[in-house]
Amino acid sequence: MMSLQGTRITWLGHATVLVQTSKGTNFLIDPFIAQNPKYPKNFVLPEKIHYILLTHGHGDHISDAAPVAAKHNSTVVAIYELAAYLAGKGVAHTIGMNLGGTVQLDDVAATMVEAKHSSAAQDERGTHDVGVAAGFVLTIADGPVLYHAGDTAVFSDMKLIRELYRPEVAMLPIGGHFTMGPREAALAVRFLEPKLVLPLHFGTFLPLKGTPEQLAALVDGGVQVARWTPGETIQN
Ligand code: NI
Ligand code: MN
Repeated sequence: MMSLQGTRITWLGHATVLVQTSKGTNFLIDPFIAQNPKYPKNFVLPEKIHYILLTHGHGDHISDAAPVAAKHNSTVVAIYELAAYLAGKGVAHTIGMNLGGTVQLDDVAATMVEAKHSSAAQDERGTHDVGVAAGFVLTIADGPVLYHAGDTAVFSDMKLIRELYRPEVAMLPIGGHFTMGPREAALAVRFLEPKLVLPLHFGTFLPLKGTPEQLAALVDGGVQVARWTPGETIQN
């Protein structure tokens, strides 16, 4: 497998991913814990989660953002309107950004990129406009470039993500129904040309039927598609 140069990537089920850099910065992407049927039940998060990155406002991506931020003293990074929504929920430290922008988060440059998906947040007061859905490219100093696509359809401007950032690791939704499935994700892999694909957003609920095996059968042999299970860490 390609070298991650000390970066550790742990899948916590659905689209929830913990990224730990070799310099000790911890990122939790799209925390979905209490209501996530695939969250590894005995998993203990690191004491310090420096940054929580949110791709969009759906409950299966943000439902544990505020409690994790409170417990682990995290800064929440999201598109401007979603960051403001979480500040309104009592999150003390937020960074709002927008598509195409990059913020330096310690040893990681986090770039917000396009996704094709809806984004609204729902709570007891109704439905709220919290900006558009996004993905993140994480360019880690002395480490790999990672792409977490969030929830998305395939789109040809993934070629721009390749041209600009050259992600070596692509975390892609493959379950279908609410996002692309394996057929579309295989085209995304052609556009992105990563070395390693980490499939997300499959198997959590019955409609999310796509599998890593289906994707692996559709991509060329030079690209590795991980068969991983929630709680598993990719590192080397
Ligand atoms: Ni969604
Ligand atoms: Mn989702």
